[in-house]
Amino acid sequence: MTSRRPTIGVFDSGFGGLTVLKALLELIPDADYAYFGDTARLPYGSKSVETVARYAVEAAHFLEGSGAALLVIACNTATALALDRITAGAHVPVVGVVEPGAGAAASVSANKKVVVVGTEATVSSHAYRKALEARGLSAREKACPLLVPLVEEGWVEHRVTEQVAGIYLGEAFADGFQDADTLVLGCTHYPLIKPLLHRIAPAHVSIVDSAESTARAVAGHLKNLLPPAVDQERRSKPRLKFFATDSVEKFRRLGQRFLGHPIEDVQHVDLKE
Ligand code: DGL
Repeated sequence: MTSRRPTIGVFDSGFGGLTVLKALLELIPDADYAYFGDTARLPYGSKSVETVARYAVEAAHFLEGSGAALLVIACNTATALALDRITAGAHVPVVGVVEPGAGAAASVSANKKVVVVGTEATVSSHAYRKALEARGLSAREKACPLLVPLVEEGWVEHRVTEQVAGIYLGEAFADGFQDADTLVLGCTHYPLIKPLLHRIAPAHVSIVDSAESTARAVAGHLKNLLPPAVDQERRSKPRLKFFATDSVEKFRRLGQRFLGHPIEDVQHVDLKE
């Protein structure tokens, strides 16, 4: 019998998108997943639109070729810079992280004033600001380039990370945005330091995690797209396949931190440009 369970393709520049996969697994355990981490070419957050778009379109093709029925662009930078290009080149539905994140912020924020933190490229694209303004919110975007390496170093509760994040948030919640009541985590890595950010953000601030809101958006898409899995399939564990463009061993080691459990089936992929 062929499986009626959908395979969801999840794309990220590297390990960070595993925070989105984690949220997807919690909400949609009755799907299979193929995750592609472009670890040989990360970080995307400091690269140009052209480069990110080219890399992301190649990765999306790869996941579609691996049988993905829906693509999740877990990388905020790739979503912000290249969602249109990825969608135009794909033959399956594509869900990015910016729209779901902005939608969640709109429903959480009471005073319609929001701070968004992300990579340099995400912030320069103003993708979040545009999505938030379209919903009647005003947004201050703040690039926090030092946070990705600190999280990858595993310093999620380190005093240096606390100081660095404190400086960034201090600069963001200022100049008319002191009273912003919502902080949007517009980068795959930031959910790992959510407890730390909660502590240092102004006390009245709610945190919106794009990973969780994206998982909810994907669940909505799946309902329209595919028949529900049959009971037996629903009960079996999701099949997880991982693809990385750099060291498989490093993907397993770092990836475990982001996903929260050991990573087994990783294959190395060499995308020809
Ligand atoms: N995945 C990226 C993002 O969410 C962060 C890491 C990178 O710069 O590649 O923006």
